[in-house]
This record gives sequence, C-alpha cells and structure tokens, in this order.
Amino acid sequence: MATRRAPTPLQPLIDKIESFEGVDEPAKALSWKVSNTLGSGALKDMLSGTAIGHALHPMLTDVVIGSFLSSTALDVIGGDESHVASERLIALGIAAYPPTALTGMSDWADGSVGNAAVRRVGVAHAAANSAALALYAASLVARRRGKKGKGTALGLLGAGALGFAGYLGGHLTLVNGVGVDQTVFDAGPSEWTEAADAADLVEGEPVRVVVEDAPVLLLRRAERTFALHDRCNHRGCSLVGRGEVSGDEIECTCHGSRFSLEDGSLIQGPATQPQPAFETREREGKIELRLYS
Ligand code: FES
Repeated sequence: MATRRAPTPLQPLIDKIESFEGVDEPAKALSWKVSNTLGSGALKDMLSGTAIGHALHPMLTDVVIGSFLSSTALDVIGGDESHVASERLIALGIAAYPPTALTGMSDWADGSVGNAAVRRVGVAHAAANSAALALYAASLVARRRGKKGKGTALGLLGAGALGFAGYLGGHLTLVNGVGVDQTVFDAGPSEWTEAADAADLVEGEPVRVVVEDAPVLLLRRAERTFALHDRCNHRGCSLVGRGEVSGDEIECTCHGSRFSLEDGSLIQGPATQPQPAFETREREGKIELRLYS
C-alpha cells in the first residue's frame, strides 16, 4: 500500500491564508480600483509583459530579491570592506521595488475578483513584501547612522520576510496558476478531427464544442468557419461566454485581450500569448479542425 506523504510544514499556514475571509471586501475593492485605473491598452500591456511573451513581474522580482539578498550575503560573508556595496545593493532593491509592486498588483487584480485563494494569498504576498521593504529601508537608515550591527540584523529579518513572500509568490503561480497560459495542457488536436455537424452552426453565432478535451469556439461567418480555443489563455474566461466579435477580431471582455479570429494572433493584451487557433474544413456535413502548425 502506498504511503501518503505528510503535508509540507507550510501547508497549514497556506490553508489558513486561503480560507481567511477577513481581507475579502477591501481586497475586492482594491482589485476593482486597480483594474479600472489601468484599464486596457499600452500601460496594461506593458505591466502584463505582453511584449515579452510572459508576465513581467517575475523578472522584476529577481532584481529586488537579488539586490536585497546579495546585501545580506555580503553582511554575513563579505568581510569589513563590503559595507558600501551592501548599502548600494539595498538602495538598488528599494529603487526597483515600486515598478515590481505595480506589475504584481496588476497581475493580482486580473485574477483576484473571481478567485478567493488568489485574492487572499496575493494580499499575504504583498504584506510580506511590504514588511521586507520596511526592514531593508530601516537597515539602510541604521547603516548610514553608523550602526552596522543593527543594519545587518534588520537585513536578516528582511531576508526572512522576503523568503516567505517569495514562497507565496511561487504558490500563486505554480499552485493557483496565476500567469500560466490557460491553454497549455489542452491546446487541441493537431490532426484533422470531427468537431460538429455543419448544420448546427448558425451564421454569426459562436458555439462551444469540446474536441479531444479541448473546448473550442466555432463561428460561422460568410461561409467560413473560424475556430479558436475557447478558454482565453490569459485567465481562462470562455470566449463564447465573454467574447465580443468585431470585424476580424474577438475581444475577451474579462480583461480586454483581443485575438485574430483567423489565426489567434494576439492583437492586444493583457494576454501574453496568441490564442490556439484551428484550420477548419467541411466533409460530408461535418466540421473538422486541426491546430495551425
Ligand atoms: S481572461 Fe483575461 S482577457 Fe481573457
């Protein structure tokens, strides 16, 4: 009989955070505020990493975490000559913090309204990062007043807070799926596969079918059939349910991402990837499709 592994030591704490309803009302209000303020367009796309093909936030966190932890490492193993470099690294981490927090807040707002776990873990992640920032800022002040020992101690506390914040950030991405392409595990068939009866399609009305476990939007227009993966790759909204067709594009109204109906290419974020799209053909009254290669 297989032996079940015990939960990780942090799992009880994660469970408590994910079920803590006390933050819900202010967090929902904040995420609405962030979403409404950023809207959709160039600024939102920049914060989302649309131009680079995945979220920008993790790249910026490398700068903050790398600077702060390098400073602490110098304090511990760098010797007497390292205090100037250590101070500069803290200053660099503080300077990189605002854009990093802004990208994180933007990503969090996209997923937090409808997902309680994302909402609550995101708040805890931000609180732990804020604590780390405050501790490293206090460390810098102490060093500039000549209190190196106090500065080192505050930096060590900041490193602890930063480590916990990083763990929660990993949980948001790797367990809660924030920022993961929502179509990656079921892109759809790469060989011609039957999807629907042609007679069931009504001109101009998108329908949802499931083909080899992949949900697919079919749209009949001007004697052509367009087919896209139905789950928006950004945060997973159904394009049949939340999509608005305009010309040759479909907009996911959840956050404003726009894709070409023809080939799924990404026209506007905050999505960072094109939507999987399918070639279609009609054979003996059946619509068949396969992924564009
Ligand atoms: S789920 Fe965010 S734009 Fe579609």
